[in-house]
Amino acid sequence: MSNPLWTCQAVLAATGGKLSGDGETAFGSVAIDSRTLEPDALFVAIKGERLDGHAFVDQALSGGAAGAIVSQADAAVPGKGSMIRVADTLAALNALGRAARARTGAKVVAVTGSVGKTSTKEALRLAFEQAGRTHASRKSFNNQWGVPLSLANMAQETQFGVFEVGMNHAGEIEVLVDLIRPDIAIVTTVEPVHLEFFSSVEAIAEAKAEIFIGLVQGGTAILNRDSAYFELLRDRAKQHGAGAILDFGFHEEAFARLLDAELGAEGSMVEAMVGGQKLSYRVGAPGRHQVLNSLTVLAACHAAEIDVAKAASALAGHQAQKGRGARFIVGEGEQRVAVIDESYNANPASMRAAFEAMAQTPRGEFPRRVAVIGDMLELGDDGPALHRDLAAAVDGAGVDIVFACGPLMAGLFDALPGNRQGGYAPSSSELAEMVVDAVTPGDVVMIKGSLGSRMEPIVEALRQSLTRRISS
Ligand SMILES: Nc1ncnc2c1ncn2[C@@H]1O[C@H](COP(=O)(O)OP(=O)(O)OP(=O)(O)O)[C@@H](O)[C@H]1O
Ligand SMILES: [Mg+2]
Repeated sequence: MSNPLWTCQAVLAATGGKLSGDGETAFGSVAIDSRTLEPDALFVAIKGERLDGHAFVDQALSGGAAGAIVSQADAAVPGKGSMIRVADTLAALNALGRAARARTGAKVVAVTGSVGKTSTKEALRLAFEQAGRTHASRKSFNNQWGVPLSLANMAQETQFGVFEVGMNHAGEIEVLVDLIRPDIAIVTTVEPVHLEFFSSVEAIAEAKAEIFIGLVQGGTAILNRDSAYFELLRDRAKQHGAGAILDFGFHEEAFARLLDAELGAEGSMVEAMVGGQKLSYRVGAPGRHQVLNSLTVLAACHAAEIDVAKAASALAGHQAQKGRGARFIVGEGEQRVAVIDESYNANPASMRAAFEAMAQTPRGEFPRRVAVIGDMLELGDDGPALHRDLAAAVDGAGVDIVFACGPLMAGLFDALPGNRQGGYAPSSSELAEMVVDAVTPGDVVMIKGSLGSRMEPIVEALRQSLTRRISS
């Protein structure tokens, strides 16, 4: 392997582990899931909430891993490859992450916020890739395992590193950002999300502000100027030694300022002013929220000292991700049905964004708007009111008919006028059939709920039924 991600010796130095087996092994990647290993991976046996990776070490090694990091207490003997024993495997993964950060000269960006982290991270990946070698977290790898794993997979030669940082509780971001040590720290938005674990939205803002604790001295903070928590975040960024604060949004003093956006079903044309430079560009992912995410990205590109106009033109390639607004069309001509898959997660902010984006679908092409919505979870005592409050967004988006499931969505469903009530069921599995039966040619169907509300099976049931209808 030319220029491996990790040599066995570098792993030993970073983790202080004890080796048995081959000391000359080179590793091409680091993994904690034995099912998705690449050949030559280093498998780290992590004890998770449900499973203990130590039960999968054999499987990993026979599946192609070149070695494993295991706990001292583990008695397994390597048949081949290297076995590195440590006191605590998660601490070892953190140590690898830290070492990967320390040895690279990359510009490193950390992205947190209540919504839009993955969308912004993926847009940053596109913007940076056209400027140099880029490494970004996979999927939403943003927690105590995902962040060190993402860091540990960053090659030394990386020029731009982008890491997603999530949290459910105060104190979590501080630990993660201490590993990342970003040059640029982004807070996309602050919204009532995971409210169950916080006394107020302000407490959420304070928890997001932990991202600045790990910012390198003199680094750049990127903030949403239109947020009610802009001042709070700005003050915290300054307290923690930010050298520059770049803000984005509609505000006329914003560093990255939206001048105009022409929203469409398959993307938007944007005019923006970024640091005094006027830019016109296309964002391939639909919705005003993606336009705002693009401003965040361009502010970060400025901070990373790359050509902002070139970065902007790369955003045409930004597609909505599966479960986060990706759209598919089944059928042809007047028989077409458009399905917008928003099944990956939901909270009041992303629900509103999704309704607004759905409304970009031209009536001429898809005359009827159908929303299929499940509970937004982890909202605590405010949950019922935050669900009922969505009635205005349903109205504003011109949704013709609503199908709902879950105890919280029942409140919204009951608050809708009778002609908008398509059907209600306690669970998504009971709702699926109603939706499948009701959808007719010419519909645009938007399906959204928290992951725990299990809306994805409705997307799949609809996909299958529509495909069957066409072929029969
Ligand atoms: N800036 C934004 N404002 C409001 N909604 C947004 C924004 N960006 C993305 N969204 C919406 O929020 C949903 C989740 O987006 P995304 O996956 O980017 O968020 P995330 O913060 O990574 O979520 P998670 O915490 O689950 O990892 C998407 O379906 C999209 O509709
Ligand atoms: Mg995410």
